[in-house]
Amino acid sequence: MTAQPLRYGLIGAGMMGREHIRNLGLIPGSELVAIADPSEEQVALSVAEAERHLGQRPRGFAMPEAMLAADPLDCVVIASPNDTHIAVLETVLRHRPGLGILVEKPVVTRLADCGRLEAMAKDHPRPFWVAMEYRYMPPVAELRRAVSAGEIGTLRMFAIREHRFPFLEKVGDWNRFSERTGGTLVEKCCHFFDLMRLVVGSEPVRVYASGAADVNHRDERYDGRVPDILDNAFVIVDFANGCRASLDLCMFAEGSWFQEEIAATGDAAKIEVFIPGPARFWPGGAERESEVVVSPRAPKGPVRRKVHVDEAILKAGDHHGSTYFQHLGFRAAMLDGGPVDVTLADGLQAVRIGLAAEESARTGESIRLDAFG
Ligand SMILES: NC(=O)c1ccc[n+]([C@@H]2O[C@H](COP(=O)([O-])OP(=O)(O)OC[C@H]3O[C@@H](n4cnc5c(N)ncnc54)[C@H](O)[C@@H]3O)[C@@H](O)[C@H]2O)c1
Repeated sequence: MTAQPLRYGLIGAGMMGREHIRNLGLIPGSELVAIADPSEEQVALSVAEAERHLGQRPRGFAMPEAMLAADPLDCVVIASPNDTHIAVLETVLRHRPGLGILVEKPVVTRLADCGRLEAMAKDHPRPFWVAMEYRYMPPVAELRRAVSAGEIGTLRMFAIREHRFPFLEKVGDWNRFSERTGGTLVEKCCHFFDLMRLVVGSEPVRVYASGAADVNHRDERYDGRVPDILDNAFVIVDFANGCRASLDLCMFAEGSWFQEEIAATGDAAKIEVFIPGPARFWPGGAERESEVVVSPRAPKGPVRRKVHVDEAILKAGDHHGSTYFQHLGFRAAMLDGGPVDVTLADGLQAVRIGLAAEESARTGESIRLDAFG
């Protein structure tokens, strides 16, 4: 039996675009019809990736408008630079309002665009999904399951540590300045703020952040300017239900065995997950396994186990398999009326928290979310 076809157009065909291609290659029925990217080189690399992983040869376009006018599509995946999302979304919503949308995080980079996008997408008839996939990493899914099943009692504290490699080089160096990314606490940490909301099951009321650009990219110059993106920060988030969450981000710690260490502590027990970074950056390039540790208060005795993830799924991306599971969910939303797990509202709220954290790091003040934006 052949799987039902779903026709994709890819807008923005760089590093993350190719991660999407490789993951679509693992899902029967995926048809990559067309690619739009102003860089001929990136289009060529992505067409070659599609030939390798999907056995298909998508048509290449320089502009999204031309792609949208030319090809029969069911949905688009948008993986262009952060600050281009708003204009690309406007183009898609205006020219082809009947398409499903999977748009990379952060969905926008500026507070002013949050309301604008909400209004533009208000009556969108197909799934509109923001790509924040960390929730699908199998160890994180296990933590979410244990917390919602009450296995740690009532959740009180949720702590996320990400200690990783510096920002990679991007096409046109778009990720070196906050004006194009939204700032580090938006660009990459919107993932974590989304995860906090999901696990805590409440909305944030106050954010305090301390962060700086201390180590990375100090000797780089772009038109004479030094990159301004933060490379280390602590962020504390207070939630309406009384839970508190923290983020400890360090982007000059690529020597760490585990990249993410996440702990949910309830009044009965603690569950922790430990997730290695991408295998391609580790000596030898072998995949490493993630771990889950459950530590009850009584009887004392932490239980540690490894979490197996299929190697083909791990190899398809840099995000411990999560992009594959996200695509399964998006496909189900497109074809079977499955839920949109990460809605536009979720994507925008994660951006607002990130922007509030950036503001806090800049001013040294804690920021109340109800008075922000
Ligand atoms: N979900 C995740 O975990 C994750 C991980 C990495 C990147 N991302 C996101 O994916 C997006 C792309 O990041 P990347 O790492 O692939 O960057 P990249 O620089 O490798 O690729 C971006 C591509 O977009 C193209 N582009 C530029 N302007 C465009 C436009 N107006 N229309 C169409 N294409 C355009 C560039 O030519 C380039 O090929 C960003 O929003 C980034 O934040 C998400």
